[in-house]
Amino acid sequence: MHIGIGNDHVAVDMKLLIKAYLESKGHTVTDFGTDSREPANYPIYGARVAKAVAAKKVDCGIVICGTGIGIGLAANRVPGIRCAICSDPYSARMAKAHNNCNMLAFGARVVGIEVAKMLVDEWLNATFEERHQVRLDLLEKLAKGEEIE
Ligand code: RB5
Repeated sequence: MHIGIGNDHVAVDMKLLIKAYLESKGHTVTDFGTDSREPANYPIYGARVAKAVAAKKVDCGIVICGTGIGIGLAANRVPGIRCAICSDPYSARMAKAHNNCNMLAFGARVVGIEVAKMLVDEWLNATFEERHQVRLDLLEKLAKGEEIE
């Protein structure tokens, strides 16, 4: 799989570890930065990865900041993106199985590297259950400003 990855300044070390982990599993990883530990604005890196996912330049994306919240919110502002902000492996699995999330966010200040690997594994290895597509269609309508009731 071709995976985009991005992060802010507090998640550089976590990003490098997850990138190496993904590559060790045979994935191709495109790194959208940052590699700097100077204060960086997470929306920039969340948007870079999200735009690559939306444009199908990568298959899916992983974004990391302190909590995962800011960079996940940024990703979700890009049309076509469903980014799950997770800190437990069950939610990460369900984010694909029920919500078909094309991006995963987590916090370098929230989870340790072993839990982060579990989040990534559960999300990447899960399969979307098609019966949930009707709800994703409603989310798309909502995003377009259409009535859904
Ligand atoms: C940076 O201090 C921090 O706010 C950022 O990494 C992230 O946690 C925001 O959601």
